[in-house]
Amino acid sequence: MEADKKLTFQLMLAVGTAVIGSLQFGYNTGVINAPQKIIESFYNETWFDRNGEPIPPSSLTSLWSISVAIFSVGGIFGSFSVGLFVNRFGRRNSMLFANVLAFISAALMGFSKAAASWEMLIMGRLVVGLYSGLSTGFVPLYVGEVAPTALRGALGTLHQLGIVIGILVAQVFGLDVIMGNASAWPWLLSFTFFPALIQCILLPFCPKSPRYLLINCNEEDKAKAALKKLRGTSDVSADMQEMKEESRQMMKEKKVTIVELFRSPLYRQPLIIAVILQLSQQLSGINAVFYYSTSIFEKAGVEQPVYATIGAGVINTAFTVVSLFLVERAGRRSLHLVGLLGMAVSAILMTIALALLNQLLWMSYVSIIAIFAFVAFFEIGPGPIPWFIVAELFGQGPRPSAFAVAGFSNWTANFIVGMCFQYVEAVCGPYVFIIFTVLLVGFFIFTYFKVPETKGRTFDEISAGFAQRNVEKSLPEELNALGADSQL
Ligand SMILES: *[C@@H]1O[C@H](CO)[C@@H](O)[C@H](O)[C@H]1NC(C)=O
Repeated sequence: MEADKKLTFQLMLAVGTAVIGSLQFGYNTGVINAPQKIIESFYNETWFDRNGEPIPPSSLTSLWSISVAIFSVGGIFGSFSVGLFVNRFGRRNSMLFANVLAFISAALMGFSKAAASWEMLIMGRLVVGLYSGLSTGFVPLYVGEVAPTALRGALGTLHQLGIVIGILVAQVFGLDVIMGNASAWPWLLSFTFFPALIQCILLPFCPKSPRYLLINCNEEDKAKAALKKLRGTSDVSADMQEMKEESRQMMKEKKVTIVELFRSPLYRQPLIIAVILQLSQQLSGINAVFYYSTSIFEKAGVEQPVYATIGAGVINTAFTVVSLFLVERAGRRSLHLVGLLGMAVSAILMTIALALLNQLLWMSYVSIIAIFAFVAFFEIGPGPIPWFIVAELFGQGPRPSAFAVAGFSNWTANFIVGMCFQYVEAVCGPYVFIIFTVLLVGFFIFTYFKVPETKGRTFDEISAGFAQRNVEKSLPEELNALGADSQL
């Protein structure tokens, strides 16, 4: 059994190389935050050169919102296409090919200034969004399949960690003295080229997924060879046995298509829960912070808004680590409730800080604390929990379809926030965070009444709970009392 826990060089190489994809996703989420002002003046200048007049503020808002949010449109298509690639080309080669997108986007964004074309920048954001959507599917899949069972949970969390570190790195690089200035911003955006290059160099040395080799390709010898490298032992029969057993289990459970998932009443409640939890993650307003915090801090009178943004990135990373320990111990549902409530309180604090800014200058510090708390509570609940719960609500058969629907809802809500935030802010001014407060409270109420605890319960127990609730609804009161133990 000891061999099962060994972190071999090959395993570290494979996981480390794959997680570059998570870093890239985080980097491109965070990268447009700090240089917003600078790139906006590039848009303004370009507009002036083309039209002979400065850009109207409304056009600037539209162009910038599109530049930010089109990333999620790419994400929608990318996350939907994961299945097309991983089963045809394999997990490792899919990651390798996806880097073509990273190179294209780096070129489009990097040369947009030289070409005086914001269209190129927007196209680059779309392409890198596509890459990110693919990565968020590829990385967890590959890491899960190369890791030994005993390390699967721990290594799986590196994906989440890679994302938040990517956001942080982007925020630091966005500093004026590094690349967040009028001459270097194209480098800031096209930096995504370098991780892609490193990944392309390293991936050919990484083993293919043994599971893909065995189950998709039916190449038992190649699967064994890959496992031997990954585990550092010559006896891999236990792993082989486990994979075969798993695939036999999977065959037994028929794959459920997305259409069937929507049609069958059996899945209705879990599906509604899965979708609403994804919405609770994005509509909590977290990406308003990751996309626009520098401008939010500036409006809140913070003197060095970029440093406050970096502070938020540090808090985000720290609390991701905290939550990695918490999810192992506390229940999913409780963590989600605590996170939502904490975010709602932080959003109220933020509103108060913004509203009183003119009377009390020190309110700018309160706004920093409010945003930090907002981010911290996000990483405790709405950040990690929705994905855990989707995985736990669905058995093997419907799980891939459920993940596709969840991913679609997630990216769509991400798009809505990225696209609309600046418009809503222009209308509501300091009260923009009230909207998130209302949404957060709504999600809290939904979670409180509708979401079951999934931790430590088998799939059968959870679905029996749903079935029981349906029965309770249709039975007379006196019978209801008999089934009172279902604490959903
Ligand atoms: C665009 O640039 C001009 C100067 O060239 C400036 O007066 C104007 O305020 C800028 N517009 C915006 C929306 O930043």
